[in-house]
Amino acid sequence: MFARTTLRLASRRTVAISRPSTSIAPVTRATFTTSIKRSDPEVPVVSYEGGNRTEETIRVPAATAAGPVTPPGTDEEKRAFPLKPSVYEHITPTLSKFLLTNKVAIITGGGRGLGLNMAQAMTEAGCRGIAIMDVQQDLGDKAARELSEQTGVDVRFYRVDVRDGQAMSQTVQDVVDHYGALDILINAAGIADSNIKAEEYPHDKFRRLIDINVTGTFLTNQACGIQMIRSGKGGSIINIASMSGSVVNYPQEQSCYNASKAAVVQFTKSVAAEWARYGIRVNAISPGYMDTALNRVPALDAQKRIWVDHTPLKKLGAVDDLNSLAVYLASDGSSFMTGNNCLIDGGYTLW
Ligand SMILES: NC(=O)c1ccc[n+]([C@@H]2O[C@H](COP(=O)([O-])OP(=O)(O)OC[C@H]3O[C@@H](n4cnc5c(N)ncnc54)[C@H](O)[C@@H]3O)[C@@H](O)[C@H]2O)c1
Repeated sequence: MFARTTLRLASRRTVAISRPSTSIAPVTRATFTTSIKRSDPEVPVVSYEGGNRTEETIRVPAATAAGPVTPPGTDEEKRAFPLKPSVYEHITPTLSKFLLTNKVAIITGGGRGLGLNMAQAMTEAGCRGIAIMDVQQDLGDKAARELSEQTGVDVRFYRVDVRDGQAMSQTVQDVVDHYGALDILINAAGIADSNIKAEEYPHDKFRRLIDINVTGTFLTNQACGIQMIRSGKGGSIINIASMSGSVVNYPQEQSCYNASKAAVVQFTKSVAAEWARYGIRVNAISPGYMDTALNRVPALDAQKRIWVDHTPLKKLGAVDDLNSLAVYLASDGSSFMTGNNCLIDGGYTLW
Protein backbone atom coordinates (compact mmCIF):
# COMPACT_ATOMS: atom_id res chain seq x y z
CA MET A 1 0.00 0.00 0.00
CA PHE A 2 2.84 2.39 0.80
CA ALA A 3 6.02 2.77 -1.21
CA ARG A 4 9.14 3.73 0.70
CA THR A 5 11.34 6.69 -0.11
CA THR A 6 14.91 6.17 1.06
CA LEU A 7 17.07 9.10 2.14
CA ARG A 8 20.84 8.61 2.49
CA LEU A 9 22.23 10.97 5.11
CA ALA A 10 25.81 12.19 5.55
CA SER A 11 25.98 10.31 8.86
CA ARG A 12 25.23 7.01 7.03
CA ARG A 13 21.84 6.96 8.67
CA THR A 14 19.04 5.83 6.40
CA VAL A 15 15.67 7.44 6.51
CA ALA A 16 12.83 5.80 4.66
CA ILE A 17 9.50 7.52 4.51
CA SER A 18 6.36 5.80 3.31
CA ARG A 19 4.06 7.63 0.97
CA PRO A 20 1.10 6.72 -1.18
CA SER A 21 3.03 6.29 -4.42
CA THR A 22 4.40 3.22 -6.21
CA SER A 23 8.12 4.10 -6.33
CA ILE A 24 10.49 7.00 -5.94
CA ALA A 25 14.24 7.39 -6.44
CA PRO A 26 16.55 7.97 -3.47
CA VAL A 27 17.05 11.66 -2.75
CA THR A 28 18.98 13.67 -0.20
CA ARG A 29 17.34 15.10 2.86
CA ALA A 30 17.78 18.67 1.50
CA THR A 31 15.81 17.94 -1.64
CA PHE A 32 13.36 15.48 -0.22
CA THR A 33 9.73 16.14 -0.93
CA THR A 34 6.76 14.10 0.00
CA SER A 35 3.11 14.04 -0.78
CA ILE A 36 2.35 13.67 2.90
CA LYS A 37 0.49 16.80 3.91
CA ARG A 38 1.70 18.56 7.05
CA SER A 39 -1.67 17.96 8.67
CA ASP A 40 -1.75 14.23 7.92
CA PRO A 41 -1.35 12.04 11.01
CA GLU A 42 1.77 9.91 10.86
CA VAL A 43 3.09 6.92 12.78
CA PRO A 44 6.88 7.09 13.17
CA VAL A 45 8.71 3.78 12.69
CA VAL A 46 12.30 3.16 13.74
CA SER A 47 14.00 0.03 12.51
CA TYR A 48 17.28 -1.60 13.60
CA GLU A 49 19.02 -4.33 11.67
CA GLY A 50 22.70 -5.21 11.40
CA GLY A 51 23.71 -1.97 13.12
CA ASN A 52 21.75 0.21 10.69
CA ARG A 53 19.08 2.56 11.91
CA THR A 54 16.17 3.33 9.65
CA GLU A 55 13.48 5.88 10.24
CA GLU A 56 10.27 6.03 8.35
CA THR A 57 6.80 7.33 8.72
CA ILE A 58 3.63 5.57 7.82
CA ARG A 59 0.60 7.70 7.26
CA VAL A 60 -2.70 6.93 8.92
CA PRO A 61 -5.96 8.32 7.62
CA ALA A 62 -7.52 9.45 10.87
CA ALA A 63 -6.58 11.35 13.98
CA THR A 64 -4.54 9.34 16.46
CA ALA A 65 -5.67 9.24 20.05
CA ALA A 66 -2.09 9.34 21.35
CA GLY A 67 -1.77 10.64 24.86
CA PRO A 68 1.01 10.81 27.40
CA VAL A 69 1.60 7.92 29.76
CA THR A 70 3.30 8.99 32.96
CA PRO A 71 6.43 6.93 33.42
CA PRO A 72 7.01 6.48 37.15
CA GLY A 73 10.04 4.63 38.49
CA THR A 74 12.54 2.53 36.58
CA ASP A 75 12.93 -1.15 35.77
CA GLU A 76 15.81 -3.42 36.60
CA GLU A 77 17.58 -3.62 33.25
CA LYS A 78 18.28 -7.04 31.77
CA ARG A 79 19.90 -7.76 28.43
CA ALA A 80 18.97 -10.27 25.74
CA PHE A 81 21.29 -12.88 24.25
CA PRO A 82 21.29 -14.24 20.68
CA LEU A 83 20.21 -17.82 20.08
CA LYS A 84 23.18 -19.65 18.56
CA PRO A 85 22.37 -21.95 15.57
CA SER A 86 24.45 -24.73 17.19
CA VAL A 87 21.60 -25.13 19.69
CA TYR A 88 19.48 -26.70 16.98
CA GLU A 89 21.94 -29.57 16.45
CA HIS A 90 21.58 -30.90 19.97
CA ILE A 91 18.06 -30.06 20.95
CA THR A 92 15.58 -32.78 21.91
CA PRO A 93 12.09 -33.04 20.35
CA THR A 94 10.48 -31.81 23.57
CA LEU A 95 12.62 -28.70 23.87
CA SER A 96 12.43 -27.98 20.13
CA LYS A 97 8.70 -27.33 20.54
CA PHE A 98 9.56 -24.27 22.58
CA LEU A 99 11.66 -22.69 19.85
CA LEU A 100 10.20 -19.74 17.92
CA THR A 101 12.52 -20.13 14.97
CA ASN A 102 11.74 -17.66 12.16
CA LYS A 103 8.64 -16.32 13.88
CA VAL A 104 7.60 -12.68 13.80
CA ALA A 105 6.14 -11.08 16.92
CA ILE A 106 4.41 -7.82 17.77
CA ILE A 107 4.68 -6.63 21.36
CA THR A 108 2.53 -3.69 22.43
CA GLY A 109 3.74 -1.82 25.48
CA GLY A 110 7.18 -3.20 24.60
CA GLY A 111 9.01 0.03 25.39
CA ARG A 112 9.71 -1.09 28.91
CA GLY A 113 8.68 -3.40 31.72
CA LEU A 114 7.02 -6.74 31.19
CA GLY A 115 6.49 -6.11 27.46
CA LEU A 116 10.14 -5.30 26.82
CA ASN A 117 11.29 -8.35 28.76
CA MET A 118 8.93 -10.62 26.83
CA ALA A 119 10.23 -9.08 23.59
CA GLN A 120 13.73 -10.05 24.72
CA ALA A 121 12.50 -13.58 25.43
CA MET A 122 10.98 -13.82 21.93
CA THR A 123 14.39 -13.05 20.38
CA GLU A 124 16.19 -15.47 22.69
CA ALA A 125 13.74 -18.22 21.65
CA GLY A 126 14.46 -17.67 17.95
CA CYS A 127 12.17 -14.98 16.53
CA ARG A 128 13.57 -13.34 13.40
CA GLY A 129 11.47 -10.20 13.61
CA ILE A 130 10.14 -8.11 16.48
CA ALA A 131 7.85 -5.08 16.23
CA ILE A 132 7.57 -3.04 19.40
CA MET A 133 4.58 -0.74 19.67
CA ASP A 134 4.40 1.88 22.38
CA VAL A 135 3.38 5.52 22.91
CA GLN A 136 6.70 6.48 24.47
CA GLN A 137 9.11 7.37 21.67
CA ASP A 138 12.34 7.46 23.70
CA LEU A 139 11.68 4.18 25.47
CA GLY A 140 10.57 2.38 22.32
CA ASP A 141 13.48 3.63 20.27
CA LYS A 142 15.99 2.62 22.95
CA ALA A 143 14.35 -0.78 23.39
CA ALA A 144 14.46 -1.52 19.66
CA ARG A 145 18.08 -0.37 19.28
CA GLU A 146 19.39 -2.34 22.24
CA LEU A 147 17.43 -5.48 21.42
CA SER A 148 18.74 -5.49 17.87
CA GLU A 149 22.32 -4.74 18.99
CA GLN A 150 22.23 -7.51 21.58
CA THR A 151 20.70 -10.22 19.38
CA GLY A 152 21.17 -9.22 15.72
CA VAL A 153 17.41 -9.56 15.18
CA ASP A 154 15.53 -7.15 12.89
CA VAL A 155 13.60 -5.02 15.40
CA ARG A 156 11.18 -2.22 14.53
CA PHE A 157 9.61 0.36 16.80
CA TYR A 158 6.26 1.97 16.04
CA ARG A 159 5.04 4.90 18.11
CA VAL A 160 1.39 4.04 18.13
CA ASP A 161 -1.41 4.29 20.64
CA VAL A 162 -3.42 1.09 21.11
CA ARG A 163 -6.59 3.19 21.34
CA ASP A 164 -6.22 4.25 17.72
CA GLY A 165 -7.80 1.51 15.62
CA GLN A 166 -6.80 2.90 12.25
CA ALA A 167 -3.21 3.48 13.32
CA MET A 168 -3.09 -0.06 14.74
CA SER A 169 -4.33 -1.71 11.57
CA GLN A 170 -1.99 0.42 9.46
CA THR A 171 1.06 -0.44 11.55
CA VAL A 172 0.19 -4.13 11.76
CA GLN A 173 -0.15 -4.11 7.95
CA ASP A 174 3.28 -2.49 7.76
CA VAL A 175 4.73 -5.24 9.97
CA VAL A 176 3.31 -7.90 7.63
CA ASP A 177 4.59 -6.03 4.57
CA HIS A 178 8.05 -5.72 6.08
CA TYR A 179 8.52 -9.23 7.48
CA GLY A 180 6.13 -11.10 5.22
CA ALA A 181 4.50 -12.76 8.23
CA LEU A 182 2.95 -12.28 11.64
CA ASP A 183 2.93 -15.20 14.04
CA ILE A 184 2.71 -13.81 17.58
CA LEU A 185 1.05 -10.90 19.35
CA ILE A 186 1.87 -10.05 22.94
CA ASN A 187 -0.51 -7.37 24.06
CA ALA A 188 1.18 -5.81 27.11
CA ALA A 189 0.25 -2.14 26.73
CA GLY A 190 -1.76 -1.08 29.73
CA ILE A 191 -2.05 1.43 32.52
CA ALA A 192 -3.07 1.21 36.15
CA ASP A 193 -4.89 3.59 38.47
CA SER A 194 -5.03 2.69 42.12
CA ASN A 195 -6.09 4.21 45.42
CA ILE A 196 -9.18 5.82 43.90
CA LYS A 197 -12.47 5.09 45.65
CA ALA A 198 -15.33 4.11 43.33
CA GLU A 199 -17.55 6.86 44.70
CA GLU A 200 -14.89 9.45 43.86
CA TYR A 201 -13.63 8.07 40.55
CA PRO A 202 -13.52 10.86 37.93
CA HIS A 203 -15.55 9.77 34.91
CA ASP A 204 -12.95 10.79 32.34
CA LYS A 205 -10.21 8.89 34.20
CA PHE A 206 -12.36 5.76 34.35
CA ARG A 207 -13.11 5.98 30.63
CA ARG A 208 -9.46 6.56 29.74
CA LEU A 209 -8.29 3.43 31.53
CA ILE A 210 -11.03 1.30 29.99
CA ASP A 211 -10.15 2.73 26.60
CA ILE A 212 -6.48 1.75 26.89
CA ASN A 213 -6.80 -1.59 28.70
CA VAL A 214 -9.98 -2.95 27.13
CA THR A 215 -10.61 -1.17 23.82
CA GLY A 216 -6.86 -1.20 23.15
CA THR A 217 -6.81 -4.97 23.66
CA PHE A 218 -9.72 -5.39 21.26
CA LEU A 219 -8.24 -3.12 18.57
CA THR A 220 -4.83 -4.79 18.77
CA ASN A 221 -6.29 -8.30 18.72
CA GLN A 222 -8.55 -7.41 15.81
CA ALA A 223 -5.76 -5.86 13.71
CA CYS A 224 -3.48 -8.87 14.28
CA GLY A 225 -6.27 -11.43 14.06
CA ILE A 226 -7.26 -10.14 10.62
CA GLN A 227 -3.70 -10.63 9.37
CA MET A 228 -3.41 -14.09 10.94
CA ILE A 229 -6.72 -15.16 9.40
CA ARG A 230 -5.66 -13.76 6.03
CA SER A 231 -2.34 -15.64 6.13
CA GLY A 232 -4.10 -18.96 6.68
CA LYS A 233 -1.30 -19.94 9.06
CA GLY A 234 -2.92 -19.06 12.37
CA GLY A 235 -0.89 -17.65 15.20
CA SER A 236 -0.65 -17.14 18.94
CA ILE A 237 -2.07 -14.14 20.77
CA ILE A 238 -1.15 -13.46 24.39
CA ASN A 239 -3.07 -10.79 26.27
CA ILE A 240 -1.54 -9.51 29.47
CA ALA A 241 -4.42 -9.28 31.91
CA SER A 242 -3.83 -9.36 35.69
CA MET A 243 -4.76 -11.35 38.76
CA SER A 244 -6.89 -8.23 39.41
CA GLY A 245 -9.26 -9.67 36.81
CA SER A 246 -9.87 -12.62 39.15
CA VAL A 247 -9.55 -11.17 42.68
CA VAL A 248 -9.99 -7.78 44.31
CA ASN A 249 -6.65 -6.38 45.40
CA TYR A 250 -6.03 -5.34 48.99
CA PRO A 251 -5.71 -2.73 50.42
CA GLN A 252 -5.93 -0.26 47.53
CA GLU A 253 -9.20 0.64 45.83
CA GLN A 254 -8.90 0.18 42.06
CA SER A 255 -12.30 -0.85 40.76
CA CYS A 256 -11.64 0.40 37.25
CA TYR A 257 -8.36 -1.50 36.78
CA ASN A 258 -9.86 -4.67 38.22
CA ALA A 259 -12.89 -4.41 35.94
CA SER A 260 -10.68 -3.71 32.92
CA LYS A 261 -8.59 -6.83 33.50
CA ALA A 262 -11.65 -9.02 34.06
CA ALA A 263 -12.80 -7.75 30.65
CA VAL A 264 -9.45 -8.66 29.10
CA VAL A 265 -9.77 -12.21 30.46
CA GLN A 266 -13.30 -12.65 29.17
CA PHE A 267 -12.46 -11.07 25.82
CA THR A 268 -9.53 -13.48 25.52
CA LYS A 269 -11.80 -16.49 26.10
CA SER A 270 -14.44 -15.20 23.68
CA VAL A 271 -12.09 -14.53 20.83
CA ALA A 272 -10.22 -17.80 21.48
CA ALA A 273 -13.48 -19.64 20.86
CA GLU A 274 -14.18 -17.61 17.70
CA TRP A 275 -10.72 -17.87 16.15
CA ALA A 276 -9.87 -21.50 16.96
CA ARG A 277 -11.24 -22.37 13.52
CA TYR A 278 -8.44 -20.29 11.98
CA GLY A 279 -5.70 -21.92 14.02
CA ILE A 280 -5.30 -18.81 16.15
CA ARG A 281 -4.77 -19.54 19.84
CA VAL A 282 -5.57 -16.75 22.29
CA ASN A 283 -4.48 -16.97 25.92
CA ALA A 284 -4.10 -14.53 28.80
CA ILE A 285 -1.30 -14.12 31.30
CA SER A 286 -2.53 -12.77 34.62
CA PRO A 287 0.44 -11.59 36.66
CA GLY A 288 0.39 -10.88 40.35
CA TYR A 289 2.39 -7.99 41.79
CA MET A 290 5.48 -7.47 39.68
CA ASP A 291 8.55 -5.41 40.50
CA THR A 292 8.29 -3.10 37.46
CA ALA A 293 8.45 0.67 36.98
CA LEU A 294 4.68 0.72 37.33
CA ASN A 295 5.10 -0.24 40.99
CA ARG A 296 8.57 1.23 41.72
CA VAL A 297 7.29 4.46 43.15
CA PRO A 298 7.76 5.68 46.74
CA ALA A 299 4.00 6.25 47.14
CA LEU A 300 3.47 2.47 46.94
CA ASP A 301 6.22 1.43 49.40
CA ALA A 302 3.90 0.87 52.36
CA GLN A 303 1.34 -1.03 50.27
CA LYS A 304 4.08 -3.16 48.73
CA ARG A 305 4.90 -4.57 52.16
CA ILE A 306 1.27 -5.69 52.47
CA TRP A 307 1.34 -7.17 48.95
CA VAL A 308 4.45 -9.23 49.79
CA ASP A 309 2.94 -10.35 53.08
CA HIS A 310 -0.18 -11.56 51.23
CA THR A 311 1.88 -13.47 48.65
CA PRO A 312 2.75 -17.04 49.71
CA LEU A 313 6.13 -16.90 47.92
CA LYS A 314 6.87 -13.67 49.90
CA LYS A 315 8.17 -11.59 47.02
CA LEU A 316 7.07 -9.53 44.02
CA GLY A 317 7.60 -11.05 40.61
CA ALA A 318 10.79 -10.05 38.77
CA VAL A 319 10.42 -8.08 35.57
CA ASP A 320 11.40 -11.15 33.50
CA ASP A 321 9.31 -13.68 35.46
CA LEU A 322 6.67 -13.90 32.70
CA ASN A 323 9.18 -14.63 29.94
CA SER A 324 9.15 -18.43 30.02
CA LEU A 325 5.35 -18.55 30.13
CA ALA A 326 5.18 -16.13 27.21
CA VAL A 327 7.55 -18.34 25.18
CA TYR A 328 5.49 -21.41 26.06
CA LEU A 329 2.22 -19.76 25.00
CA ALA A 330 3.77 -18.37 21.81
CA SER A 331 5.26 -21.73 20.84
CA ASP A 332 4.03 -25.11 19.67
CA GLY A 333 4.70 -26.31 23.21
CA SER A 334 1.18 -25.04 23.99
CA SER A 335 -0.46 -26.09 20.73
CA PHE A 336 -3.52 -27.62 22.50
CA MET A 337 -4.05 -24.64 24.77
CA THR A 338 -6.38 -21.76 24.02
CA GLY A 339 -8.70 -19.48 25.96
CA ASN A 340 -6.70 -20.07 29.12
CA ASN A 341 -6.10 -17.47 31.79
CA CYS A 342 -2.68 -18.28 33.26
CA LEU A 343 -2.25 -16.88 36.77
CA ILE A 344 1.39 -16.29 37.64
CA ASP A 345 1.26 -14.53 40.97
CA GLY A 346 3.52 -16.15 43.58
CA GLY A 347 0.40 -17.79 44.96
CA TYR A 348 -1.39 -14.51 45.83
CA THR A 349 -4.79 -15.73 44.65
CA LEU A 350 -4.56 -18.89 46.82
CA TRP A 351 -5.40 -17.03 50.03
N1 LIG B 1 3.51 -4.53 37.03
C1 LIG B 1 2.57 -5.27 37.59
O1 LIG B 1 2.57 -5.50 38.82
C2 LIG B 1 1.47 -5.85 36.75
C3 LIG B 1 0.63 -6.80 37.34
C4 LIG B 1 -0.39 -7.35 36.58
C5 LIG B 1 -0.58 -6.95 35.28
N2 LIG B 1 0.24 -6.00 34.73
C6 LIG B 1 -0.02 -5.62 33.36
O2 LIG B 1 1.11 -5.90 32.56
C7 LIG B 1 1.19 -4.95 31.50
C8 LIG B 1 2.57 -4.31 31.51
O3 LIG B 1 2.80 -3.76 32.79
P1 LIG B 1 4.21 -3.11 33.20
O4 LIG B 1 4.35 -3.27 34.66
O5 LIG B 1 5.28 -3.60 32.32
O6 LIG B 1 3.87 -1.58 32.92
P2 LIG B 1 4.78 -0.42 32.31
O7 LIG B 1 4.08 0.87 32.60
O8 LIG B 1 6.18 -0.56 32.78
O9 LIG B 1 4.75 -0.73 30.74
C9 LIG B 1 3.59 -0.51 30.00
C10 LIG B 1 3.98 0.04 28.65
O10 LIG B 1 2.75 0.26 27.92
C11 LIG B 1 2.87 1.49 27.25
N3 LIG B 1 1.55 2.05 27.01
C12 LIG B 1 0.70 2.58 27.92
N4 LIG B 1 -0.40 3.04 27.33
C13 LIG B 1 -0.26 2.79 26.01
C14 LIG B 1 -1.06 3.04 24.88
N5 LIG B 1 -2.23 3.67 25.00
N6 LIG B 1 -0.64 2.64 23.67
C15 LIG B 1 0.56 2.02 23.55
N7 LIG B 1 1.39 1.79 24.58
C16 LIG B 1 0.98 2.16 25.80
C17 LIG B 1 3.69 2.37 28.17
O11 LIG B 1 4.28 3.44 27.48
C18 LIG B 1 4.71 1.38 28.74
O12 LIG B 1 5.88 1.34 27.97
C19 LIG B 1 0.05 -3.96 31.74
O13 LIG B 1 -1.05 -4.32 30.94
C20 LIG B 1 -0.27 -4.14 33.20
O14 LIG B 1 -1.61 -3.81 33.50
C21 LIG B 1 1.27 -5.46 35.44
